[in-house]
Amino acid sequence: MALAIVLIILIIGSVAFHVWSPWYLTELASNWDTIDYTIDITFWVTGFVFVAVNAFMAWAVIRYRYKKDRRADYEPENKKLEWWLTGLTTVGVVAMLAPGLFVWGEFVQVPEDAWEMEVVGQQWHWTYRFPGEDGKLGTSKVTLITEENPLGVNPDDPNGLDDKIIYDPVVHIPRGRPMKALLRAKDVLHNFTVPQFRVKMDLVPGLVSYVWLTPEKNGTYDILCEELCGVGHYTMRGRITVQDQADFDAWLAKQPTFAETQARGHGDPVAGQTAYAVCAACHGMQGEGNPMMNGPKLTGQSTWYLRRQIDAYKRGHRGTHPDDVYGRQMAPMVATLVNQQAVDNVVAYIRSLPDVPAQPTVTGDLEHGEELYEGCVLCHGADGMGKHATNAPRYVGMSDWYLVRQLKNFQTGVRGSHPEDKYGEQMGFMSKQLYGDESINDVVAYINSLPGPGAAVTTAAR
Ligand code: CUA
Repeated sequence: MALAIVLIILIIGSVAFHVWSPWYLTELASNWDTIDYTIDITFWVTGFVFVAVNAFMAWAVIRYRYKKDRRADYEPENKKLEWWLTGLTTVGVVAMLAPGLFVWGEFVQVPEDAWEMEVVGQQWHWTYRFPGEDGKLGTSKVTLITEENPLGVNPDDPNGLDDKIIYDPVVHIPRGRPMKALLRAKDVLHNFTVPQFRVKMDLVPGLVSYVWLTPEKNGTYDILCEELCGVGHYTMRGRITVQDQADFDAWLAKQPTFAETQARGHGDPVAGQTAYAVCAACHGMQGEGNPMMNGPKLTGQSTWYLRRQIDAYKRGHRGTHPDDVYGRQMAPMVATLVNQQAVDNVVAYIRSLPDVPAQPTVTGDLEHGEELYEGCVLCHGADGMGKHATNAPRYVGMSDWYLVRQLKNFQTGVRGSHPEDKYGEQMGFMSKQLYGDESINDVVAYINSLPGPGAAVTTAAR
């Protein structure tokens, strides 16, 4: 009897949970309402079976409960009942699967007027490419991937020169036009998913897969990776904004073409020296950093990272949080660099300064720090020198007090909580693997113990 009551509570509870649950499909923002219909059909079929089977069990438990002189009948065959069960099961299975086949037929049939864009996945970032004025994407190859050409676009293919390169997880697309996303992975399997679009597809290294959709609702949505792709899988997120064609065109016009990214030079250190005078007050004459002025060491940091951080201040990703006291001091300083050339020049000047390792100030439990550092290795490298491939900066030999402060900032959202700062968001997730100030000190102390630039990394140092 108790079992029967549990079964009945299970049925009522499940139905009630469905009706009042806050978790259901997100609002639909694409043409794929047919996917929702198939989900609804599956829900109703499986829901009906769930209720019917459990109710039957509860009924059977009550109806045929133990009675002293009752004996079970032996009835191995019941043709009529078997026909019924076979028939009903067939109807249920066909009802669930057949509509899906029709939807799949549409899913693989891309409309002829669809325009194409490319989505590139890597551990643990999204990047994008749009065709230029010719409407054609140039060819690409993984062997062509370098720091300057992170998508591996073929420089000898004239179709690729005007392609727009979005080396950032934030992207925009126009509303109302069918779009075919060509999907490419640099390393392992990923899966391109925007819940509001309903369609999703794997990215497979070595081939180009695709999905198509017509975005029908303006808005900003999360891009998720839904294929387990390593320790940073849950941090592999992007952001897609659907907007009117004119707004999209204005956004796209601001993005660099492949040719422009290739023409970007290294900057002029001599011209950069003058601009650096503003920075020297806090970061030191030689870029060595100054803890008294809260300016971290700059020398030895990679060109791409320095540029990206200056850019982050310019875009408001950094230095806008109300509690970011030092970032807010930095923001107006960055504003003195009026254009990309000025940024490149000052970075070139910083790169020309001698890289003297910063004096360690943080101590902690090295053994514990080494354990914690396992979480950082894949992006920042076993030697702590940073990796462009994973968009992770150098740590080792840099201002350790600054690392401690930034880790805390990431944990509290002072840094990395700007909605378009996806790199910061990712580090925010990762920083939460460190519990308490002691863990932060331990991991930074371990970073201090690493041999630094030029040293061969031995397994012991790792
Ligand atoms: Cu990429 Cu999970």
